[in-house]
Amino acid sequence: MATPNSPASRCNGLPSPNPFAPANKSKAFPDKFLWGCATAGHQVEGNNIASDLWALEHIPHGMFREPSGDACDHYHLYGQDIAMLADLGFNTYRFSIEWSRIEPEENQFSNAELNHYRRVLAACREHNLTTLVTYSHFSMPLWFARKGAWSNPAAPDLFARYCERASKHFGDLIDFASTFNEPDIPQLLNWITFAPSQGPSMTEMFQQALISARAALNSPEFASFFLGDGKKIRDGLLAAHTKGKTAMKSARPSMPVGFNLAMSDDQPAPTDSHVAEKRADVYGPWLEAAKTCNYLGVQTYSRAIVGKKDLPPPPGTELTQMGYEFYPECVEGVVRYAAKEAGVPIYVTENGVATDDDTRRIEYYRRALTSLKRAIDDGVDVRGYVSWSLLDNWEWMFGYAPQFGIVAVDRATQKRTIKPSGAYLGNIARRNSL
Ligand code: BGC
Repeated sequence: MATPNSPASRCNGLPSPNPFAPANKSKAFPDKFLWGCATAGHQVEGNNIASDLWALEHIPHGMFREPSGDACDHYHLYGQDIAMLADLGFNTYRFSIEWSRIEPEENQFSNAELNHYRRVLAACREHNLTTLVTYSHFSMPLWFARKGAWSNPAAPDLFARYCERASKHFGDLIDFASTFNEPDIPQLLNWITFAPSQGPSMTEMFQQALISARAALNSPEFASFFLGDGKKIRDGLLAAHTKGKTAMKSARPSMPVGFNLAMSDDQPAPTDSHVAEKRADVYGPWLEAAKTCNYLGVQTYSRAIVGKKDLPPPPGTELTQMGYEFYPECVEGVVRYAAKEAGVPIYVTENGVATDDDTRRIEYYRRALTSLKRAIDDGVDVRGYVSWSLLDNWEWMFGYAPQFGIVAVDRATQKRTIKPSGAYLGNIARRNSL
């Protein structure tokens, strides 16, 4: 599956329409549709030094291509980034708050950091942006990881305490809260297969990384979002979601709460397909949990042809920088399935493509949104579309190589440059129409 720099072949069979063509009424999205971009704290803020990931990034021969460092310095530049997002035409900003800043040591909450995120939310309000706030986007405080992270029986209560504290401090400025970003990832990874030449599976790689991390950090219980026993992580996350949601609602009962699920558009292989089994394993418990939420966020990048496991894309397929098939219509398949199963309003909270060719990004968004509109016209209750990502940022293990942003970032000067795809998507957002 994901290789940091797999070459993308260019098999563009579709005509390329003028991306800035005026709106046609039949292409309009529903009133009050949310149009936004997403970021995640650890990927853009920089210097998230009390987090588990910062520690993992600095282990010799660790699993990261490069450390996050200053990232996009969004911690200091959030004001200009938020203004730029609004100026482009978007009405929504999705971002995450960093638990490790708010509670850098166990039970030591930082008012200064709570105030920081209050200022970020106030900046959104100043620009009339709807806010989608994720409380946990993979990273966590190092002290929490040292205690076994989500496998620690105390994890749900520890998470709930943080949720309550944060919600009390700035919940009045949050429009949609999310407990977790992609809590189903540990299970999803089990379904991905590598070509034999690509070496060990993701799960095997993570097991090895866990052993090395525990030794390097001299921390026998250490675990993190991706590193540990998948089943225990899932049970811990489900319990933490339930307690976190209750804590958020106790601080502000009217706050809409949900979470964001990672989904591929699962399509059956011609023979021996295990789509139903995959769906039950990866999404089943979370779609059940979504039924008691105010909304469900879905995040998708491509399709998976599911045999016994997800099959690797056949030779000749156009691939993104992440090694996924270039398949923008995944968004349609995913919203249709998720809406039917969860029965709550759906927001696409991540969708986009890693490419150094911005014309392919425009094409990706054009096809993704055309497919999304088809589902909406068929009555699927989708209320927003948030692209990944506002900025070219730190893409976890792959470092700064993949480019998902509609805005480029010069990391030496932190200068932002809006790409044509940013203007394209912003114009669609502004006129609420393709
Ligand atoms: C995550 C993001 C990530 C994106 C692109 C999602 O899985 O929520 O943090 O950068 O995909 O890989």
